[in-house]
Amino acid sequence: MKTGVIPEKPFVFVIFGATGDLTGRKLIPAIYALAYDNLLPENFRILAIGRRDYTSETFQNMMEEAVREYSQKCFMEKVWERVKNGITYINFDFVADKDGYFRLKHALDNLSETGIHNHLFYLAVAPGLFAPIVTELKKNGLLSEGNGWKRVIIEKPFGENLEKAAALNNILTDALPEERIYRIDHYLGKEMFQNILTLRFSNNIFEPLWNRFHIDHVQISIAETVGVGSRGGYYDNTGVLKDMVQNHMFQLLSIIAMEPPVKLDSDYIRNEKIRVIRALRPFPVSLSEREIVLGQYTGGIVNGEAVPGYLQEKNVAHGSKTPTFAALKLWIDNYRWQGVPFYLLTGKRLNRRNAEIVIQFREPLGRKLYNDYCDARSNILAFRIQPYEGFYFQINAKKPGNFYEMIQANMDYCQTTTYGNNSPEAYEKLILEAIRGNNSLFTGWDELNASWYYIEDLESKINRNSLHIHQYPAGSVGPEAAVRLIENDGRSWWNMYDSINFCKERGSINENI
Ligand code: BG6
Repeated sequence: MKTGVIPEKPFVFVIFGATGDLTGRKLIPAIYALAYDNLLPENFRILAIGRRDYTSETFQNMMEEAVREYSQKCFMEKVWERVKNGITYINFDFVADKDGYFRLKHALDNLSETGIHNHLFYLAVAPGLFAPIVTELKKNGLLSEGNGWKRVIIEKPFGENLEKAAALNNILTDALPEERIYRIDHYLGKEMFQNILTLRFSNNIFEPLWNRFHIDHVQISIAETVGVGSRGGYYDNTGVLKDMVQNHMFQLLSIIAMEPPVKLDSDYIRNEKIRVIRALRPFPVSLSEREIVLGQYTGGIVNGEAVPGYLQEKNVAHGSKTPTFAALKLWIDNYRWQGVPFYLLTGKRLNRRNAEIVIQFREPLGRKLYNDYCDARSNILAFRIQPYEGFYFQINAKKPGNFYEMIQANMDYCQTTTYGNNSPEAYEKLILEAIRGNNSLFTGWDELNASWYYIEDLESKINRNSLHIHQYPAGSVGPEAAVRLIENDGRSWWNMYDSINFCKERGSINENI
């Protein structure tokens, strides 16, 4: 993995979709943060391409506002000047205006004459534009590596289904090789994602226990308080399984369950992750709520505010059956995980915002020794991905005193408390890795292919079995049936009600940082 290196070679960051939401909210603030941390080469430029008729100056001013509003770093005039002076806005229609690509080529050739030969193209555009843009870039010779590297970052979603994703992939790989394609899944850029690898593979105490002999089950949850917002049209054709499970949740699942890679290089890591997805047991033909529960939010109260139900959101079809919540039980049919259920839960408009992975170990073997008078519980290792970052390990200890009582002690590492909210944001990290040429934090085609295949098979079984879509009020924990899914197995969701207060009470979260 080529991490840890400060890139030295000059480069041009070419953004398609410069006037879109993502550029102002994430991309330019990420470049600003990298400049702030001195992680960019001396010489870099930004060519921002959009369909609106702006001058470079207008665009620079808009981006200054965006940086002031969205960057985690404080605003420093000197740093911003450096970024701003490198920004040029180019106005053309990516599909209709073929001449625009000549102008782009001309601009890049001019920069090449000043010694900047490396180009990172970022496609922050609607998915339907990925293929036409890459095709034009290729036609104009903009992807051939003569004297510098040429890489393309593709935003998600990568296709709407397996067939479309495969067709898109064919066009991309026809234009440039797999190792130069960087498919975004921003969960891979989250700080704790990489920390899972570190915790698993650099601590001897965990790996010997990381299997069916010691682990009872695993829970992965991403709970959101937001609804679909302005993305109703996209979401209604997508649903929770494709929006969250097929990508983010499967990435978390595979990093937790994969075998140790031979090296921490992208090919090795990706190969191990793919093996996990391929080992997922297909859902039974006659699917039931013992395996999966789906839901859709109705109106309710979130964080003290009244919010509309999914069916009232803009651009959602009348009477839509698109699920916004899913709880699933998965099995990985390999030697390490045979018999260990993986419970996944994700939903919009829930009572909390958090992403967590909980590893629950088997019941303590010595439990019988204490049974009559003690409450020895299973050990828990939990990774907190957001909003607070860290992990904790829960173990049994004797409560001080003259009685033999047990308490659960927590060995807790709250990164947010220790380091403040200073973790690089996902986009910052991902852009830096793309500049470094490290694509291990991006999704490989084989992984995508395998996960699309699995989710499409699941969706066709859901349709065949006409699975019920439960309604749940916004601001709740989700449908009751999801609680039953895990409780039928004699287990329960961890921290479903209030994980944040749970952490605050234990002092592991300090709100004053
Ligand atoms: C996106 C999904 O990929 O991830 C959104 O399209 C979702 O629907 C978002 O809200 C969640 O990301 P995060 O980083 O806020 O957990």
